[in-house]
Amino acid sequence: MRDNILRLENLQVHFPLKGGLFDRVLGRSAGAVRAVDGIDLNVEPGETVALVGESGSGKTTVGRVITKLVQPTGGKLLFDGEDMTSVRGSSALRPYRHRVQMIFQDAYQALNPRHTVFDIVAEPLRSLRLVKDNQLSERVREALSAAGLNPPDEYVARFPHELSGGQRQRVVIAGALAVKPELIVADEPVSMLDVSIRAQILQVLVDLRQQQNMALLFITHDLPVAWLIADRIAVLYLGRVVEIGSADEITFNPKHPYTVALRNATPQIGVSENRGELPALQGEVPSAARIPTGCRFHPRCPLAFSRCRDEDPPAVEVEPRHLSACWLAK
Ligand SMILES: Nc1ncnc2c1ncn2[C@@H]1O[C@H](COP(=O)(O)OP(=O)(O)OP(=O)(O)O)[C@@H](O)[C@H]1O
Ligand SMILES: [Mg+2]
Repeated sequence: MRDNILRLENLQVHFPLKGGLFDRVLGRSAGAVRAVDGIDLNVEPGETVALVGESGSGKTTVGRVITKLVQPTGGKLLFDGEDMTSVRGSSALRPYRHRVQMIFQDAYQALNPRHTVFDIVAEPLRSLRLVKDNQLSERVREALSAAGLNPPDEYVARFPHELSGGQRQRVVIAGALAVKPELIVADEPVSMLDVSIRAQILQVLVDLRQQQNMALLFITHDLPVAWLIADRIAVLYLGRVVEIGSADEITFNPKHPYTVALRNATPQIGVSENRGELPALQGEVPSAARIPTGCRFHPRCPLAFSRCRDEDPPAVEVEPRHLSACWLAK
């Protein structure tokens, strides 16, 4: 097996809850939001892994840990074999920022409205001092072109408000690409775009990783999108990976009742033979400040039995490289 470029070991991010007046007067802790609650995940060089789950499952928080925007409260973050968990400070992180880039959901927020497209894409190259001044222009144009903004000269002098939503997202992608990272974390990069533009941007990402051998951690709540783009899919529920396997396995042979329900909730791939086996998802995701005992999915699981209420199921291999954390998995 190839070495991993990224490895998360029992990663945890618990945010302290701000208590009410009573808690503060009595000096007692108000508990914590367990946004990420023990995640194990590997990404190989050049591999695309999709992180899928409902709102609040901890996807963005995982991405923010990997890009060092949030400090984990437990577990480890390893990049290319190096323990990055406790590395802090901009100069210590400079080489890492060169190797790992994040693309955010909302391109409009991510772009400085007073900077031109050229300056936006050039900014990380300048601040990381990656290229000489005389190479800057070529590198920026190359990235814009790779992100599908052609010819790049048409775009370099524009400001964000002079672009469409899809073009803005391409500028954000170009900014990440210009650095030539080994890993991109893309947090719902297409969810705010309309369907036709979505497919084009996904295609840009698919082409790029083939050309540049760049690993991609693709965050989405949309299982069909994950299937389209990823080699493997990790299904997140309340801060934990409940199932992981190849994109085909997770989509067409899901084992965890949560994944089955997610799939059945998706009309495009809620294909007939398994439909009706389990009802679509019931109820809402519980608060990450009150994670249920035992299997965290049990209050919503139509197959739950007594053990599920008391004991947390470990992830077990149900097929080669396909793991499911369910007491019924075998
Ligand atoms: N800075 C913070 N302080 C306290 N709680 C937080 C913080 N950031 C996130 N959370 C909580 O952590 C949990 C996971 O949030 P996160 O944004 O990672 O979910 P998500 O899967 O990305 O959801 P979405 O699909 O809606 O973007 C949520 O319950 C959220 O309220
Ligand atoms: Mg999110």
